[in-house]
Amino acid sequence: MVTYARMLKYEVPEELSLSPSPYNAAHHRFTVLVAVLAFLLILAGALVTSNNAGLAVPDWPTSFGHLFKIPPMIGGIKWEHSHRMIAEFVGLLTIVVAIWTWRVDKRRWMRWLTIGAVLGVTFQGILGGLTVLNFTPPLISTAHGVVGQTMFCVLAAIAVFTSRSWLEEPAEKMTRKDAGPLIRHSWMLIGFLYLQLILGAGFRHVWTKWGPPGSNHWPTHKIIHIFLYPHILNALLVAGLVLYLGMRTLSKHSNIPHLKVPGMWLLILLVLQLMLGIGAYVVRVVQGVDEAQPTLALVGVTVAHLGVGALILAVTVILTIQAYRHTGEPADVIPFDRSREVARA
Ligand code: HEM
Ligand code: HEM
Repeated sequence: MVTYARMLKYEVPEELSLSPSPYNAAHHRFTVLVAVLAFLLILAGALVTSNNAGLAVPDWPTSFGHLFKIPPMIGGIKWEHSHRMIAEFVGLLTIVVAIWTWRVDKRRWMRWLTIGAVLGVTFQGILGGLTVLNFTPPLISTAHGVVGQTMFCVLAAIAVFTSRSWLEEPAEKMTRKDAGPLIRHSWMLIGFLYLQLILGAGFRHVWTKWGPPGSNHWPTHKIIHIFLYPHILNALLVAGLVLYLGMRTLSKHSNIPHLKVPGMWLLILLVLQLMLGIGAYVVRVVQGVDEAQPTLALVGVTVAHLGVGALILAVTVILTIQAYRHTGEPADVIPFDRSREVARA
């Protein structure tokens, strides 16, 4: 029950607090750590593919017959087994995030989101195992790449949802009319980024398994026409949307840092990604067509291109959820229905 004493001290009683869950610094920092580790896990996975090391450890869930014993970290085994170990660690930490969230977070949807993250990471681990047991078929490997980036985005979103700024009422908001185009175009960008990811991963896995360095099962021009040209064409749509969102957040919503900062990062990452894309084309298709073994340049450029792609997707997801959070009228007063409760008390 709200008392006059509490009201006179201008304390917002917990039952009337606009924030549905109190900020917990340690919990938030832990979710940020897990999201950062998930990004490193994406890079570790990319290193497996770029080094053609997918089958260096032929069994799963064991590694050379052992569940815990670390095999000699030589050749492709160091990439493949390190990726598995980082994946297991991130899986374990995701379970800790869920348990911790159930203990400290009052938001029901947030609790279930962390359960979803645990299920997603488990599914991803099973896809990783299936790709090994089926000799890295491009379809499963592509699915593994796509679900991996999705899980990174989910963990990044969890880190945003536990932040202090998310839990406090935003000082500045956009009107619904202004927010409409921003939210619509953010969703469109997420869609085109997924298409970009599927085409890029499809190209990479078909090329390395069925193309010139693999079995020559598919002629190079066929792989390029089906996956790479559409990937380059779709990059134009992605670039157009990033430019639109970047410009809009920097000009129209520059008073809202939670929109301006991701908008600015999207523009920076886009420039980097287009340069890395051209680099990936050169090292993979122009130079790489005659290479039996992946060169250092090929590994470096393709892993960086995949990593920056994952960052662009995650920043777009964060921009979209922040756009929803910053929509509506500024809540500088207690909402009408709650002020009546206060008056009654
Ligand atoms: C649970 C979290 C995991 C995440 C987020 C993850 C993520 C990734 C990513 C992003 C790639 C690169 C895909 C690409 O280059 O297109 C990859 C590759 C790979 N991952 Fe994972 N992975 C996880 C777990 C596992 C597990 C448990 C295994 C068990 C064997 C595994 C096996 C592989 C293999 C073999 C590749 C190379 C696929 C190929 O070259 O065809 N992954 N992973
Ligand atoms: C903003 C635009 C772009 C985004 C977001 C993007 C994203 C990606 C991603 C995520 C992958 C790896 C997928 C995976 O295996 O999981 C990839 C692969 C690739 N992309 Fe892009 N890309 C973009 C633009 C370009 C451009 C303009 C080019 C070429 C001119 C290009 C060339 C390539 C190539 C050659 C690969 C395969 C790399 C390999 O074989 O290892 N990309 N892209």
